[in-house]
Amino acid sequence: KMLKSVRKNIILIGFMGCGKTTVGTAVAGRLGYNLLDVDLYIEKEAGCSISQIFADKGEQYFRELETDTLKKLNASISHTVISTGGGLPMRPENAEELRKLGTVIYLDVQPEEVIRRLSGDTSRPLLQGDDVERKVNRLMDERRPVYESEADCVIPVTGRDVEEIVDELVCIV
Ligand code: S3P
Repeated sequence: KMLKSVRKNIILIGFMGCGKTTVGTAVAGRLGYNLLDVDLYIEKEAGCSISQIFADKGEQYFRELETDTLKKLNASISHTVISTGGGLPMRPENAEELRKLGTVIYLDVQPEEVIRRLSGDTSRPLLQGDDVERKVNRLMDERRPVYESEADCVIPVTGRDVEEIVDELVCIV
């Protein structure tokens, strides 16, 4: 059984639009790590977009794919920055898998910033239709406590640029 410290994965969690993929790409580049985006992995495996998966099979089916993907990864992965979908840590079994994979970093973004960044976005099925502002606030209230309790460390990202966030992150890990 490999020790967590030897595996040296970095897992980014946080709300939609917090910058997990952007920051993940930059951190991986800086450290010479691989990058694995769970959403992209699922899209590749399924051969269609996440929106399409939600539309055809529903959210619960997508959640099963997330759990399956994590279990598959856990066996082999190391020296990788793993960028997760915003809802992934909400299942306790997923949160446990994340902890086994490595150091979990929560990118903490304010709801106003999410609304600004994602206005007009069509790729996130949970934020379509009316009242996006209420949807963001409600989901974030529900998720924040989980993100906080699952993370080894919290990095605030609102109003900060990517380089500054990456500087802070590489000091921690
Ligand atoms: C989701 C976040 C999305 C994607 C899916 C569901 C969520 O990923 O997994 O649309 O439940 O918060 P991002 O956090 O990368 O937007």
